[in-house]
Amino acid sequence: MKNVQKNIEIVSQDKVIAFKRISKKFGTPLYVYFEKDLKDSFKNFQKIRAPYGLIVRYAIKANSNGAILRFYNKLGAHFDASTFNECVRLIEGAGISGNKIRLTSQEVQSEENLHYLTKKSVLYTACSLLQLETYGKALPNTEVGIRFNIGIGSALFPTSSTGGKNSSFGIFEQRDKINALLNKYNLTLTTVHVHIGSGSDSEKQKIAVHEGLKIVNDYPHVVALSMGGGYKVGGMSSEHSTNIKEVGQVMVDAIKDFNKTTGRKILLEMEPGTALVAKAGYILTEIIDKVTTGSSGKEFLKVNGGMNMNARVPMHGAQHPLIVIPRKRKNSQIKEYVVCGICCESGDILTVELWKPGVVEQRSMVEACVGDLMVIGRAGAYCASMSGGNYNSQQLHPEILVRENGKLDVIRERQPLSDIWKYEKIPRDL
Ligand SMILES: Cc1ncc(COP(=O)(O)O)c(C=O)c1O
Repeated sequence: MKNVQKNIEIVSQDKVIAFKRISKKFGTPLYVYFEKDLKDSFKNFQKIRAPYGLIVRYAIKANSNGAILRFYNKLGAHFDASTFNECVRLIEGAGISGNKIRLTSQEVQSEENLHYLTKKSVLYTACSLLQLETYGKALPNTEVGIRFNIGIGSALFPTSSTGGKNSSFGIFEQRDKINALLNKYNLTLTTVHVHIGSGSDSEKQKIAVHEGLKIVNDYPHVVALSMGGGYKVGGMSSEHSTNIKEVGQVMVDAIKDFNKTTGRKILLEMEPGTALVAKAGYILTEIIDKVTTGSSGKEFLKVNGGMNMNARVPMHGAQHPLIVIPRKRKNSQIKEYVVCGICCESGDILTVELWKPGVVEQRSMVEACVGDLMVIGRAGAYCASMSGGNYNSQQLHPEILVRENGKLDVIRERQPLSDIWKYEKIPRDL
């Protein structure tokens, strides 16, 4: 049976005009972000009326461009860093105060790093027993957060769940060991952190808030509950988005109920990445070739930016909306295509079966010609920030911010080609 996916995203006429303008001015491929969308998504979180305070931490791994970091800083966001280097990037690259950053990481920090973080007032969440021990040794008699694996994992795709027995994120049970380390180093647990996965089911997130509060109940000095991020953002007709207002209200109600029974006033922290930036961003590419595998085969559209600009597809089998913008003609005929990038990899396919990297699927879209633009939607999160490599000697591509007043700001230049071999060292005899 033929399986043809449909786009659900309709790009507004204003955006179509912007994409045409951008491609004329800067060429393709590149990333495009719309300031208004970045702002509106943040407002959705600000509207949550947490009774004892709300901190919205932008999870910067989703998109770490300095202009976006500064943008959210100006709007009042705090930040979630996943590595020590992300902290340095925030502080030294984007000029953000350390006291607005919380580090929740898979790394075990060196003593030197921990002292740097403390000097800069960065908040620390220990995510393993060894992390807690290392922190305690370096900084006894201080406050600390702990990430708990509450046994519940939920994510958009199997590769991004961060809870349950198959996940190494956070401390799973072992309360006796946690308590022994807190005692040994006279550490005060002040934040309980619970993040169950990226793109999690909101019903599971609702359960997670209650599980998180059960842990808070066991530790009298805890003042904050961090629910992490993971709020779902659908791009295709088969996916839906988390209702931020609704899930936020469940968290608010749980915190209010907790106050009624314990008298404690718990601050709510949320760490959205995807939900802030995913839909504000697009990858703007151009169709450079068309290939067919015969009357019983498939028609392929090759675009000049694929897996090198969007690792979500080959890594997770993610589906993104694909929108053809014909250069000149008006065209309403719908055809079925497989869309692929230009990397020399048969897996560089943009139309894959959901969660099946490299498994080709056709997508119906407006009939396309070589020279037309192809816009990849829902690409503001984990696309530019994950496209770190220079595979096939492809440069890192520019990022453009479309301001609310229509101004186009280049927030990253195209990487010079010579940068690709800049750090190579050639032995003398070669
Ligand atoms: C601790 C933590 N917070 C926040 C996030 C952001 O997740 P998302 O981009 O799905 O909102 C993640 C992502 O995995 C995470 O591990």
